[in-house]
Amino acid sequence: MFDRHQFLEKNGLILTVAILVTVAIGGLVEIAPLFYLESTIEKVKGVRPYTPLELAGRNIYVREGCYVCHSQQIRPLRDEVERYGHYSLAAESMYDHPFQWGSKRTGPDLARVGGKYSDDWHREHLIDPQSLVPESVMPPYAFLQETALDLSNMSAALRANRIVGVPYTEDMIENAVSDARAQVDPFSDDYDALLERYPGAIIREFDGDATALTEMDALIAYLQVLGTMVDFDAYEPEQNYR
Ligand code: HEC
Repeated sequence: MFDRHQFLEKNGLILTVAILVTVAIGGLVEIAPLFYLESTIEKVKGVRPYTPLELAGRNIYVREGCYVCHSQQIRPLRDEVERYGHYSLAAESMYDHPFQWGSKRTGPDLARVGGKYSDDWHREHLIDPQSLVPESVMPPYAFLQETALDLSNMSAALRANRIVGVPYTEDMIENAVSDARAQVDPFSDDYDALLERYPGAIIREFDGDATALTEMDALIAYLQVLGTMVDFDAYEPEQNYR
């Protein structure tokens, strides 16, 4: 046995190949099951695909690089759970492509920021963070309030997400623009249709200005839904995850 091992140790190249093979086996055992995501992600009640407006807000969040300073991943550690709420479930980001877990917290975690503040607070904070939190180092995003939301690629955005596995139906894709408009208009005729397609969606005049659909509307709609889809009073982890 040891003689044969000598052979390996004296031949650098063969040793390298042997190491690679060994590591590859370990890697496969760990990674291969994750490709069968169906069985990896526990299904959780309440988690639904983003509405077109929320999805547009998410795209703005990614475009502006909010993830550079904010994570969206509450770890199951006591200090985090006490500060931010229930630890994040895999299912809560199953429709995020790409996920926004992030790796840096210059600002607080945003995984459960939905419902924590009013829409007005978010608007003021995004326009001028220091007006609400004087010591904040967050940059202002006032232009979002003046920038009309680009509706031309709304359906395409849903379609692209469907390709990577988000269950958007043809009906949702076709009505993406009217759904986006309906979500900022509590008096819209499309109110019920929107709720039927996206149960529990929040319908509000997010940026406080009913005359225009802006990027601010979309971003606040997105922030207000973060972490709110699962009802944690009713949630029970599956047996095998305990
Ligand atoms: C340079 C880092 C930085 C960037 C970039 C940044 N933020 Fe922040 N953010 C902070 C800091 C620091 C705080 C804490 C102080 C405060 O509330 O302003 C914060 C706070 C927040 C809060 C309040 C969270 C809470 O629970 O109190 C929200 C919401 C928020 N940011 C959203 C955003 C969004 C949306 C973007 C992108 C458009 C963004 N941030 C970009 C640093 C950043």
